Amino acid sequence: MGKMLRGILELWVLVVLVTAETDNPVTDALIEVPEVPSEESVPLPLPGMLYPRESESREVRSLDGLWDFAVSPPGDSAKGIRDQWYQDNLSRSIPVMQMPVPSSYNDITTSKALRDHVGPVWYERSFFVPLSWAEQRVFVRFGSVNYLAQVWINGEIVTNHEIGHLPFEAEINSFLVFGGKNRITVAVDNSLLQTSIPQGRVNPVPADNGTAWVQSYSFDFFNYAGIHRPVLLSTKPRVYISDITIKTSISGDTGIIKYSIEAAGNLDGEVPECSVSLREENSTLVAEGDIPGFTGTLKIPDANLWWPRSMSDTPGYLYTLEIILTVPNSTIRDIYRLPIGIRTIKWTNKTLLINDRPVYLRGFGRHEDSIIRGRGLDLVTMTRDYELLKWIGANAYRTSHYPYSDEVMDMADREGFLVIDECPAVDTENFSPELLKRHKTSISELIRRDKNRPSVLMWSISNEPRTSLPGADTYFKQVALHTKTTDPTRPITIALSTSYTQDRAAQYLDIISFNRYNSWYANPGRLDMIVDRVVSEAQSWHKKYNKPVLMSEYGADTQPGLHELPDYIWSEEYQAAVLSRHFQAFDRLREAGWFVGEFIWNFADFRTAQTYTRVGGNKKGIFTRCRQPKMAAHLVRKRYHALGVELDGAQLPGDLEIYAASFLPRDEF
Ligand SMILES: *[C@@H]1O[C@H](CO)[C@@H](O)[C@H](O)[C@H]1NC(C)=O
Ligand SMILES: *[C@@H]1O[C@H](CO)[C@@H](O)[C@H](O)[C@H]1NC(C)=O
Ligand SMILES: *[C@@H]1O[C@H](CO)[C@@H](O)[C@H](O)[C@H]1NC(C)=O
Ligand SMILES: *[C@@H]1O[C@H](CO)[C@@H](O)[C@H](O)[C@H]1NC(C)=O
Ligand SMILES: *[C@@H]1O[C@H](CO)[C@@H](O)[C@H](O)[C@H]1NC(C)=O
Repeated sequence: MGKMLRGILELWVLVVLVTAETDNPVTDALIEVPEVPSEESVPLPLPGMLYPRESESREVRSLDGLWDFAVSPPGDSAKGIRDQWYQDNLSRSIPVMQMPVPSSYNDITTSKALRDHVGPVWYERSFFVPLSWAEQRVFVRFGSVNYLAQVWINGEIVTNHEIGHLPFEAEINSFLVFGGKNRITVAVDNSLLQTSIPQGRVNPVPADNGTAWVQSYSFDFFNYAGIHRPVLLSTKPRVYISDITIKTSISGDTGIIKYSIEAAGNLDGEVPECSVSLREENSTLVAEGDIPGFTGTLKIPDANLWWPRSMSDTPGYLYTLEIILTVPNSTIRDIYRLPIGIRTIKWTNKTLLINDRPVYLRGFGRHEDSIIRGRGLDLVTMTRDYELLKWIGANAYRTSHYPYSDEVMDMADREGFLVIDECPAVDTENFSPELLKRHKTSISELIRRDKNRPSVLMWSISNEPRTSLPGADTYFKQVALHTKTTDPTRPITIALSTSYTQDRAAQYLDIISFNRYNSWYANPGRLDMIVDRVVSEAQSWHKKYNKPVLMSEYGADTQPGLHELPDYIWSEEYQAAVLSRHFQAFDRLREAGWFVGEFIWNFADFRTAQTYTRVGGNKKGIFTRCRQPKMAAHLVRKRYHALGVELDGAQLPGDLEIYAASFLPRDEF
């Protein structure tokens, strides 16, 4: 194993031991936090990691399904590593059960211990590799594993990865038995510490049977764990397309695509060649690179631009960029097809522009969360969510509070949703060099994955960080610089919750987003304390920084089916009234010209840690956790579609109003 890998391995074991050593408690409070350095070196781009797509030259096989699964015995979380469980069939070391992949393991069984487990769990399965693959490069790719993953194949360590919600892959030829059976073992550790992204604490707490190691975190969503997204085996030729970066612009009616392709795997003296072409959605060829080469420009007259929903009759138009790589005097040929959209993003100190037209964002903060599956990718829930987003007339959402799956992002590209793409840093505090390093890594990995997506409108580099703390200035200056240097084409934001009088980070952002719960956490029940407060806070942010402002969170917990007149907190009437008062504030703000969006918290009810403020989880959803509308959903639908008519000239859906009486105007928008 390489030196680097060993380094990470030791760190991982250390994390396990922190959670395991009950006699020598290592608490976060004891860790000294050195000051964050103020120098930022220019970030090196990460090596490419294109999503595995089938083509004439590439095969993709899913390893999803039921895996063997086991938890380390209570009180000895390091046992699996110490006893090298990965060396042999897992069931010889410990009794196993079947666990579906992808999914969170927490809510599937009836075991409280498993739901609330802190520390490592183990997954294993077998798979066959055909002899024909010996001529190819073989990779294994995990869409995401939360939080730490260590992967062995046939007993040998292959890779490890830290930070959930982001993909990782490894080339595995040297570990495989071609034309035979193979075994893949994955250890997953969900412990969150003060230096992980997001942060948490694992502390010893006296319990009836001794000491319990308790995971705590300040963020308000359940720390689901497991293999959350698909596991794919894929092949690439020996010399292959390793990365693609595109930038699009528009000149008159002509769409311009600048591309840059990277190849890997060529031997000294071997010079691969590359040709690029572009196809319409119906596969008609529209453009070919004039000269074969790894960088170039395609010009598309009368281009079909990528537009967000409601700004065009054909939102989300995607071309396919086809890349063919060949190696002279060899039979090697690699083909990769990337869906791309032609659009521009610009921003000023007042507006956000898509294709030079101002855009007003109306949408939600969301979660990847559903009943039983937890945070595991579920295509049924995903598709239902997009159907509901379309029904309600949204044009945007934020991937609160971590990157969403490739599959979810693909659909945003295709359906024309604008995405505020958020890295997994939540409630960031206790700023340390170690934390900063991981924070930057999470952003680099996110940009590597999503840089070519037309739906990605801006990067959110943290949610509700403690930006009034003394270290926040230096820390966020560097996170912002890192993000802007890695991708200069998109604006950056933070969903801020600190008051504008105390905040030290907004100076480094392009767009100011703020979360505020008027008439919920502050002044509950007082619907007369919303409009002026929202208007005045947004104005203050704009006045201070002269930048566009949006409201990234507001809302009220609502128990579906609870009705009360006059409205009372937690009732469906109260939620609708809170939103309605915000709508009045937003319409006043829109007149000012620099207010660029409104995001309800939350799209759907979701699971949180157990606390006395949460009944079965956070209930601020406009939809229930089963994805059915609460009463307020119908109100939001009227507003979001009305905004589409007013701002984009879109059509109202025919079923927005149901008949009540003949004299009521149906076209009041
Ligand atoms: C381990 O053994 C069990 C029981 O024989 C079997 O079902 C399972 O497939 C084996 N796992 C691997 C990875 O070979
Ligand atoms: C406490 O320990 C006893 C003896 O090992 C065990 O039977 C019991 O289930 C434990 N109780 C809890 C709540 O873990
Ligand atoms: C394919 O789509 C393009 C762009 O919309 C259109 O101009 C062309 O006529 C279509 N071709 C076919 C064969 O449908
Ligand atoms: C390919 O082979 C031909 C004929 O053997 C030779 O002339 C040429 O230099 C080779 N090209 C490369 C790029 O190796
Ligand atoms: C921002 O807005 C002001 C007033 O409209 C304008 O004069 C200025 O040039 C703009 N740009 C910056 C960077 O402040």
